[in-house]
Amino acid sequence: MPKTPDYFHGKTIVITGAGSGIGHATALIFAREGANVVCADVNENAVKETAEQVNALGSQALALTIDVTRRAAVNDMIELALNGFNRVDFLFNCAGSAVRRSKFLDIDDDLFERTFDINVKGTFYAMQAVLPHMLKNKFGVIVNVASMAVKRGGPGASVHYAAAKGAVHTMTLGVAREFANQGIRCLSVSPGPTRTAFQATAATSAEMVKQMEADVPMKRFAEPEEMGELVLFMCSDACPYMTADTVYVSGGGGFR
Ligand SMILES: NC(=O)c1ccc[n+]([C@@H]2O[C@H](COP(=O)([O-])OP(=O)(O)OC[C@H]3O[C@@H](n4cnc5c(N)ncnc54)[C@H](O)[C@@H]3O)[C@@H](O)[C@H]2O)c1
Repeated sequence: MPKTPDYFHGKTIVITGAGSGIGHATALIFAREGANVVCADVNENAVKETAEQVNALGSQALALTIDVTRRAAVNDMIELALNGFNRVDFLFNCAGSAVRRSKFLDIDDDLFERTFDINVKGTFYAMQAVLPHMLKNKFGVIVNVASMAVKRGGPGASVHYAAAKGAVHTMTLGVAREFANQGIRCLSVSPGPTRTAFQATAATSAEMVKQMEADVPMKRFAEPEEMGELVLFMCSDACPYMTADTVYVSGGGGFR
């Protein structure tokens, strides 16, 4: 929660991957706090649905159908957000995917490139697009999504994904430290297994899902709202000394 009760009123967040899962949950949490929410996703229907739910909570939404792997589309996203709300205070780079599971020796160029395009380039493009504006305002918080996989390396199923999230983790550190004395904070969230469409999208086997759940000391997947509340805390005025680091939200840690 913010230290100042109306801290989020009238401030604006841009959320990529807002059509589903963690991005969707975070959009509704920021709407609850009175923020304007720019909902961006490659899935047009899903992002419109999120925007309608934000509006229904009494906050203002803008729905944008964009593919974060395309730099021009990401630049447009920030420009449209500025046209709509005049400023962008927060950016949550949530769009991401393991694309599909694969053993290390079977990862081909296409899988490797697609995984890096969505997780790494998408995050990189959005930060480059928003930072000049945030620097002008001398204020901004960027939250990226890494993963517990950063600690585990994804053996047997997702080294490509773990490596991409490792790049997100490192890029977050670098951006945070480069702009730390210019009013900018940059952090990442590293979720453990979370109950979203993510596993289905990556065609994770039912057996692997069971194994993941069994391996987490809390014996359950996280709910997407548990990540969203952390993003809210990170963007708030509760702990402005916090930057650069990731926060693992893992139910005690797991095998992946
Ligand atoms: N769910 C988990 O277990 C888990 C664990 C660790 C990290 N993560 C990370 O959390 C983030 C959110 O994932 P989620 O679990 O909410 O999954 P999700 O599949 O529910 O949501 C991902 C959203 O990203 C959108 N998206 C995909 N490609 C896109 C693109 N090119 N451009 C714009 N939008 C695109 C999808 O349409 C979808 O709405 C991702 O970065 C993911 O890697 C998830």
